Amino acid sequence: MSKVYICTAIPYVNGNPHIGHAMDYLLSDAYARFRRMLGDEVRFQVGTDEHGNKVYSTAQKNNLPVEEYAAQNSQKFQDFVQKLNISYTDVIRTTDPEHVRRCQEIWQKLTPHIYAAEYDGWYCEGCERFITQKEYDETNGVCPDHQKPYERLTEKNYYLRISDFKDEIREQIENGKMAILPEFRKQEMLNLLEDTPDISISRPKKQLSWGVPVPGDESQVMYVWLDALSNYITILGYPDQDISEFWPATAQFVGKDILRFHAITWPAILLGLGLPLPQTLVSHGHVLSNGQKMSKSLGNVVDPMEVVERHGLEAFRYYFSRHIDTFVDSDFTWEKYDEAYNNELANDLGNLVQRLATLCSKNEISGIVTGDCKDLGPEYITLMGNFEFSKAFDYIWSQIRELNKEIDQSKPWELAKNGETARLQTVLHDLVIKLVHAAQLLEPFLPDTSASIYQIFGVDGAIQRPETPLFPKD
Ligand code: MSP
Repeated sequence: MSKVYICTAIPYVNGNPHIGHAMDYLLSDAYARFRRMLGDEVRFQVGTDEHGNKVYSTAQKNNLPVEEYAAQNSQKFQDFVQKLNISYTDVIRTTDPEHVRRCQEIWQKLTPHIYAAEYDGWYCEGCERFITQKEYDETNGVCPDHQKPYERLTEKNYYLRISDFKDEIREQIENGKMAILPEFRKQEMLNLLEDTPDISISRPKKQLSWGVPVPGDESQVMYVWLDALSNYITILGYPDQDISEFWPATAQFVGKDILRFHAITWPAILLGLGLPLPQTLVSHGHVLSNGQKMSKSLGNVVDPMEVVERHGLEAFRYYFSRHIDTFVDSDFTWEKYDEAYNNELANDLGNLVQRLATLCSKNEISGIVTGDCKDLGPEYITLMGNFEFSKAFDYIWSQIRELNKEIDQSKPWELAKNGETARLQTVLHDLVIKLVHAAQLLEPFLPDTSASIYQIFGVDGAIQRPETPLFPKD
């Protein structure tokens, strides 16, 4: 049994959760449930990123004190995570007093690598990121993600001397000690690392009051990313407690837009603290809406609750784990969603369960003990272990389609009509074993569906046909 620590990016609380936010949660949940199936002990963190200008200015626009605004939205994210049936173990808010105090201790530990200097350059509030002159020139001074001109800042900042750690970070990325997935992002990060200057880790209080105060300098507040990244270890109790049981993280799940912070800034902080780097950074693509980035101005932001209401939670988990590719951008449209629901969940799986349960109940076949088929199979274990979730899902689905074919070919109804009882028993029993096996493979993705299949088939006793299908057709 191993100890596994899974981390998810903590969303800003400047708005409601949208369908894109579900990706970190669903991927990490599939991995957490998979590792538990293997018998490992899993800790799994989720939380909210509450400081910084972006949250502060939206609170002001909403005429609410920032603490109240952040608390309201943080609750919405917690409700969202619960609604998605995410099997997390720890929740953090970056406004938690314990987190704030621990961040200040982290700062103190980093002081040998910190220096003060004047920053004269560009900043994007949407990204909460300092922008280099090269990036400014390449984008003509407008953030491609937020469609807003960069601000010019001239201010005193504290800097983290990233040059102290560059060689070590490069080496660990290159030799895979800190793996970056997918592979093509690894080279991207190595190139970026070469160009990365020392990182500013504070803002003057007069520019940013909503943040963790810098110890020993009342005029400064910590840069939101220093505070946010630290959540992965403060939640484990660092620096008060020994975190070596669960640190380094087994896997950290982040969107492609924030991989740079996790592949460069975060390792620099960890090395500064003398801590090991995470074992794997899994960077997922973005969910597009009708082929475009979701944005309020385009009016194409999809409300996840609406998606859940349309066909239920399992359908939501299904679409976002299978049809949103794990590593590259993929599209959500209502048409594609309905199609996947009707053709795959309702037809391929729902019908299969209903047909087989009907045949078994008519012919008095009893269920099986699920423990009989615990062997998950090497192909599945490799795909899941390599974080290839959409491929693992395709693999499960090929088995489900195969089972549908097997029923059609073995024609149990004819065996029954012809009185071939012994053969009928063997055929149905074999199909039940295969279906329960498929349900086991599905468990990390669709836990409730697996539980229903176990309930119908995975018992010693007569199999009953469920009154309502698992996935009723529209
Ligand atoms: N607060 C930072 C993360 C700090 S982690 C120490 C942040 N927040 S965010 O709200 O902008 O994004 C949270 C997560 O959601 C990130 O992993 C981000 O990539 C992901 N997504 C945001 N929009 C997305 C899509 N449209 N599609 C998929 N994931 C997206 O960044």
